[in-house]
Amino acid sequence: MINIWKQEYLLDLDTIDEQHKMFFEMTGRIVQLAETVSEAHSVEKIIQAIGVLRTYAFLHFKTEEELLLKYVFPGYLQHISFHNLYLENMINFEKEFKVLFKKKKDGEDTNLAMAEYLTHMADYVANWWVEHIVKQDSVYAKFILEQRKKKRASV
Ligand SMILES: [Fe+2]
Ligand SMILES: [Fe+2]
Repeated sequence: MINIWKQEYLLDLDTIDEQHKMFFEMTGRIVQLAETVSEAHSVEKIIQAIGVLRTYAFLHFKTEEELLLKYVFPGYLQHISFHNLYLENMINFEKEFKVLFKKKKDGEDTNLAMAEYLTHMADYVANWWVEHIVKQDSVYAKFILEQRKKKRASV
């Protein structure tokens, strides 16, 4: 079973939480695509879905990195290195999928292989988000919330 969004992933930062939630929805859609992969689902459609997932990650990281800069989070550089590694992996998934399936004809074998590939990718994505939110994002969130509290206390 793929990871789904849980209440415990909330960081009390509204925009960030909304975006995080969105990733689990998007990953769920990839799983759905994998489960219903058939000739009706062209390779193009799947490539597009992978692309959307990557683009959205890019947007989310940008939002998050701007926030970290605003609050001068001490772990900024390390944090962006996690993001960059994820983006690199997503680009590789996209490339690999194209290489493997773009020129293949539809057929049962190809459908099965595509479904397996997508399931594997969705699994990686969902696991990465859970781990990143719980282990890394929660650290900066705590820092930011503390900064905000201090600021309020000093007014
Ligand atoms: Fe992050
Ligand atoms: Fe995040």
